[in-house]
Amino acid sequence: MEASGPLGGKVVLVAGATSASGEAVSRALVAAGATVLAVGTRPEALDTLALAVPGVDTRVCDLADRSAVAELAMRIHLKFGNVDGLVHLVGGWRGGGGIAGQTDDDWEFLERSFTTLRNTTRVLYDDLVASPAGRLAVVSSTAVDKPYAGGANYAAAKAAADAWTRAVAQGFAKEAPSAAAAIFVVKSLSGLEEQLAQWVVALWSAEATAINGVRQPLEPARMEG
Ligand SMILES: NC(=O)c1ccc[n+]([C@@H]2O[C@H](COP(=O)([O-])OP(=O)(O)OC[C@H]3O[C@@H](n4cnc5c(N)ncnc54)[C@H](OP(=O)(O)O)[C@@H]3O)[C@@H](O)[C@H]2O)c1
Repeated sequence: MEASGPLGGKVVLVAGATSASGEAVSRALVAAGATVLAVGTRPEALDTLALAVPGVDTRVCDLADRSAVAELAMRIHLKFGNVDGLVHLVGGWRGGGGIAGQTDDDWEFLERSFTTLRNTTRVLYDDLVASPAGRLAVVSSTAVDKPYAGGANYAAAKAAADAWTRAVAQGFAKEAPSAAAAIFVVKSLSGLEEQLAQWVVALWSAEATAINGVRQPLEPARMEG
């Protein structure tokens, strides 16, 4: 039976779901009635998430491996049908040491979260285009607009993800005006996890053309009155 709620019948994949933000987003999506596929690489972290968020469906997958992503999508299609939403939350920070100190190790680590975005969007693009309301959400960084020497690797990797997402948005605008790719921009997510979760759910009640390709600063909600 289809879950009730504003997102009843929607299938949403949360890529990188075991962080505090991943848990908040997964919980909000389940509460809104979506079928949520929460993905990470550590089975024990996904087990913890499944206990914390009843109703979430967890999947182990290295999203940096394109063939593994294609296999995951095939399994999802068989069980749930097409995906309506992709919330990409794979991240991590490495830095320090100025420009000369930007290491290859750190770049390899940071670039992986760009690769996971490329893989998931390439594999799920057709689903999002076919959905009556396909949504892609990513969290970018203020470092893209204001990079620091010590965080050059990080800023470059986030800038790549930011540009990629806006390219997806251009594809949506051309092929599927009811789909949208939204970019939330933040310096630190700490304390803003619930805000992010609410804004992700709200993407489905927003007009696609109003949010597609838009970089929206993620700020604490202001109290009225
Ligand atoms: N935290 C901040 O202050 C901040 C600031 C600006 C932007 N952002 C962005 O916001 C988003 C969420 O950040 P966060 O700090 O909540 O994330 P995070 O703590 O870095 O969590 C990363 C998540 O991705 C999963 N993951 C890592 N590699 C993976 C892979 N190869 N395949 C599948 N899953 C993988 C991790 O689970 P496993 O370890 O189990 O794989 C974990 O669930 C990221 O895009 C980040 O860049 C964060």
